[in-house]
Amino acid sequence: MNDRLPPAGTLLTPTNRTAGTALPAAAPTPAERVTTVSHPGPAGAVTAETPPDPAGFVLTVATRVLAADGVVCLALRRPDGGTLPPWTPGAHIDVLLDGGDGADGGMIRQYSLCGHPEERDVWRIAVLREPRGRGGSAHVHDQLREGDAVRVRGPRNNFPLRPAARHLFVAGGIGITPILPMIEAAEAAGADWRLLYGGRTRASMAFLDRLAPYGDRVLVRPQDTYGLLDLAAFVGPPEPDTLVHACGPEPLLDALRDTCAHWPPGTLGVERFAPVEAKAAGPAEAFEVELTRSGLTLTVPPGRSVLEAVEEAGVTVDFSCREGTCGTCETDVLEGTPDHRDSLLTEEERAGGDTMLICVSRSCGPRLVLDL
Ligand code: FES
Repeated sequence: MNDRLPPAGTLLTPTNRTAGTALPAAAPTPAERVTTVSHPGPAGAVTAETPPDPAGFVLTVATRVLAADGVVCLALRRPDGGTLPPWTPGAHIDVLLDGGDGADGGMIRQYSLCGHPEERDVWRIAVLREPRGRGGSAHVHDQLREGDAVRVRGPRNNFPLRPAARHLFVAGGIGITPILPMIEAAEAAGADWRLLYGGRTRASMAFLDRLAPYGDRVLVRPQDTYGLLDLAAFVGPPEPDTLVHACGPEPLLDALRDTCAHWPPGTLGVERFAPVEAKAAGPAEAFEVELTRSGLTLTVPPGRSVLEAVEEAGVTVDFSCREGTCGTCETDVLEGTPDHRDSLLTEEERAGGDTMLICVSRSCGPRLVLDL
């Protein structure tokens, strides 16, 4: 077992992605980019050079409590009670659920950290049981008990809170988890903010007690009482120095994207539960990948990913979700044009063509050269 923790002070980030920072107390900056997916933080954000350890490290389930109907909240601590790596609002960790070491294709899930970043000896996650899921949430609900060991990796932040004078937060169901630390950071920074929080029923909505002190800044709107969220009324007309951060199911995020269509580019930042359906720009045929640091040239056949080809060649590369949502496998492109099929990069990053998520993305042409 590898129980090594990342060095203290390390924020783990993908290869060339920046980590988010806590809101500065200084004047806000305007939004600058369009995105409907998770995206990097503002210029000047804290970055880290230490790559994640694929094997992760082991924590103990210190407490396990029901946070709402179908939602269990776990507090994870080091077995020795020591300090954990720092994180910023919007960050998530990988949880390796079946005892694997992350290199064996086992069950790895990403969960947002929903505690307080200043609590340096505990990470808190909340997991919704998904009856039609792939088994991760059922494993957490049915198998993990207080005192159990669980292997984790991270933290990593693809959904940082960008600084602004005014924030509109929208959370659907368990999507409240990354939003909670964001609103607490916005509050601490003195920003103007409001939260629209929807769920199936009030009993299914976690953390209402933690939101109660914020009074009418928080609109709690269970669907069985209020119907669908009135996004247009909540978002309203464009206002300066205002950003929208949202996490929730796809229909909610799609509707919010439409609602924000008349806002300045870059206003909306979202974190998704699941990958968006990829629109392939390139052919389905085989292509060649040259790995400059490894000195290898591989063929990626139809139906196989670059990540799979690289793994089969014995090259070690970090990965987690294998579905283009977490950013772990982000790789620099030195030559060629990627056929982006992920759910993470911004339109700007796609157009730049100098980075790709190799677990899902392919090549528009016959050859790619990667910094691997
Ligand atoms: S492994 Fe998660 S984006 Fe590729």
